[in-house]
Amino acid sequence: MAYDKEEINLEKENIEVDNMIEYAYKNLKTKYIGRELVYLDSIDSTNIKAKELAAQGCADGAVVISEEQTNGRGRLGRSWVSPKGQGIWMSIVLRPDIKPSDAAKTTHIAAAAVWKAIYELGVDAQIKWPNDIVINSKKVCGILSEMSTELNSLNYIVVGIGINVNIDKDSIPEELSSVATSIKKEVGKEVSKGELLIRLLSNFEELYEELIDYGTIINSINICRDSSVLIGKRIKVILKGQEVEREAIGITNEGELLVSDDMGNVSPLISGEVSVRGIYGYV
Ligand code: BTN
Repeated sequence: MAYDKEEINLEKENIEVDNMIEYAYKNLKTKYIGRELVYLDSIDSTNIKAKELAAQGCADGAVVISEEQTNGRGRLGRSWVSPKGQGIWMSIVLRPDIKPSDAAKTTHIAAAAVWKAIYELGVDAQIKWPNDIVINSKKVCGILSEMSTELNSLNYIVVGIGINVNIDKDSIPEELSSVATSIKKEVGKEVSKGELLIRLLSNFEELYEELIDYGTIINSINICRDSSVLIGKRIKVILKGQEVEREAIGITNEGELLVSDDMGNVSPLISGEVSVRGIYGYV
């Protein structure tokens, strides 16, 4: 795509185009994911902005990305620390023709796309089903998917992705330092946010097309299985405040985590309904 401020959807309040976004404008080769790209210097939450744009009719695949979030949101009502210029804080608007009950599949697609983008930069990461990417057992990325529905039909999905790319170790809040990290902290050098961003968007598009064309997410699930940090481990499953211990034994083609109890009874867990943790900590 040519770097043309007239063609792209640069918001007026945005002052600077830094390397990440300039690199993305020049090098992005996707068909529709990120073609409408709203780049902001600061915003409360890219998910909130993306939902506003979706309600106003923005394109399928539109992306909102911000240098910082002042009120980044995580799962289960948590906040998401999003310091300026140090990460990828972005949301993708999707309008797939699928049932609301299949919307969580976009989370598995996003997890696989992020994992693959990090892998392509030469960094070894793992996926903690369903929403997190981890390096050396600590979280570097979280995904928050939100949907809008009407009469059991899907209006849109917003897939929010936060990647701690170049956060310095001193900038990770003390209370999070045992569970959270950044790619820079783990590999000992800065990583190109622009390269990570375009790889993420093109991986996402490729994996998402399987859902659109065939209704399946086998390629994404294979990535989630092969890079799973949970499979083969004993885990704590937290459902409606109740905690039980299980062994994680696999992931179904639909994206459910298969767990086994001590009697060998196997059951599927649906993402969104449960939280999982390692027995002794985060994983
Ligand atoms: C989690 O692991 O709890 C999910 C974190 C999701 C954070 C991202 S950052 C971009 C997008 N905007 C938000 O407010 N949240 C998501």
